[in-house]
Amino acid sequence: MITDRTPAPNQFHNELELDPKAYGLPGAEELAALLAALHPDCAPGTAPRQGPDGSGGDVYAPRVVPQTASVAHVPGTAGLPQIPAAWQAPSFARVGNLSVEALRADFPILGEEVNGRRLVWLDNAATTQKPRPVIERLEYYYRHENSNVHRGAHTLAQRATDAYESARAAIARFIGAPDSAEVVFVRGATEGINLVAQGYVKQFLRPGDEIILTMLEHHANIVPWQLLAEETGAVLRVAPIDADGQIILSGYADLFTPRTRFVSASHVSNALGTVAPVAEMIALAHGHGVRVCIDGAQSVSHLPVDVRALDADFFVFSGHKIYGPTGIGIVYGKSELLEAARPYQGGGNMIADVTFAETVYRKAPAKFEAGTGNIAGAAGLGAAVEYISAIGMRHIAAYEQDLLAYGTRALSAVPGLRLIGTAAHKASVLSFILNGHAIEDVGRRLSAAGIAVRAGHHCAQPVLRHFGLEGTVRPSLAFYNTREEVDLLTDVLSDIAGGKT
Ligand SMILES: Cc1ncc(COP(=O)(O)O)c(C=O)c1O
Repeated sequence: MITDRTPAPNQFHNELELDPKAYGLPGAEELAALLAALHPDCAPGTAPRQGPDGSGGDVYAPRVVPQTASVAHVPGTAGLPQIPAAWQAPSFARVGNLSVEALRADFPILGEEVNGRRLVWLDNAATTQKPRPVIERLEYYYRHENSNVHRGAHTLAQRATDAYESARAAIARFIGAPDSAEVVFVRGATEGINLVAQGYVKQFLRPGDEIILTMLEHHANIVPWQLLAEETGAVLRVAPIDADGQIILSGYADLFTPRTRFVSASHVSNALGTVAPVAEMIALAHGHGVRVCIDGAQSVSHLPVDVRALDADFFVFSGHKIYGPTGIGIVYGKSELLEAARPYQGGGNMIADVTFAETVYRKAPAKFEAGTGNIAGAAGLGAAVEYISAIGMRHIAAYEQDLLAYGTRALSAVPGLRLIGTAAHKASVLSFILNGHAIEDVGRRLSAAGIAVRAGHHCAQPVLRHFGLEGTVRPSLAFYNTREEVDLLTDVLSDIAGGKT
């Protein structure tokens, strides 16, 4: 039974015994009053709320974001982890009309302490942190809705099915898919690309047929096509990039031949941040009668995406990179292409009728969702896209572009630092190497300062080798990051570059 949702005080705060009033922040009494005003049901000492049916006084009734309603953002610090004032984003930093400080307070983990320092999460390209509405949505599902979907004829089966399908509808709205039946739940972008390769493309391939990728691809958009090429005798062709890490469109156009059967390309490079000109690339491919899959794993969290405006045939992304849970993602596919695709896996849930002689499949998306999926994860992903839609993807993109420009200037001034990936159109990735310092050492030094970045090959070895590298250090930004965090990163890097221990 949980009745008091006031978070435990942050350990760091306790250790220092800070007086919030000394920082111009409200004291404990003011916070309690504010909390009571905002969430009368969960203020300390408040009697537990009654269940929806009026029974019992012990029913947990969290402030849950309904899948179908937009998020009412509640700014302010009430009920959220207590972060010393010096750590907070300046209140004037805004994403749209929401203060970054208030948005940061939605992410409990950002109040975490690591290695004796405040956590500075700059590993957003690997995975993003989760806001309270997503965390609460998962908890709500397991407390009130947990059941298998589509099967049982009982109330919880209905609730779970509603949660699953309304999440699908929210995701379809988020990416501009005309019909939620065009959204298939999978484990993530990796499984999505495998589904497209095995379920749709494989059936059309003959030995010598060609598939076009680009030099920017993550391994998740290389290896499934290599497996397919091995199985079918197809050949992979790779679109070139220039010294800034930008796709050379003429080089891409030159790859098309009468044997070209499919294109699969990332929207945003995870290693360099390059935003690929996917609208032009899709139009070019369609001019040759060739279908295209866009790997949106790194784009959906940074740019407004409209699959219909792009005219993408398939589009995949992972929930965990867009503030949702791990183990859930989607494949968008145009309905006629999903109908033409074969099931990727067989099992329960995806069938209309089974005899030992033959099986009749259900229509998409069920046809591709064999077995029991990540129902709670789907509901959590629905909450995530509702949350960022309420903030506004245009606002997120504008804020992150500003932060990227700031970070680019700041890092460029660090002696011996070379940025890798300097495309004119980039999302918020700042890959670099530091002269005379192994990337792993730089990663460790940053981690000791509480700063989480990725140091390695980022599962994109071909593009790094194109630059003659085996790895980079990769800070990657999200809308909850601040200029102060970038300053801290720059200071630590300057110390490393200057030989300070
Ligand atoms: C561009 C790109 N595509 C695909 C993936 C694979 O995503 P997942 O591991 O969530 O399936 C990633 C992960 O980093 C990525 O950055």
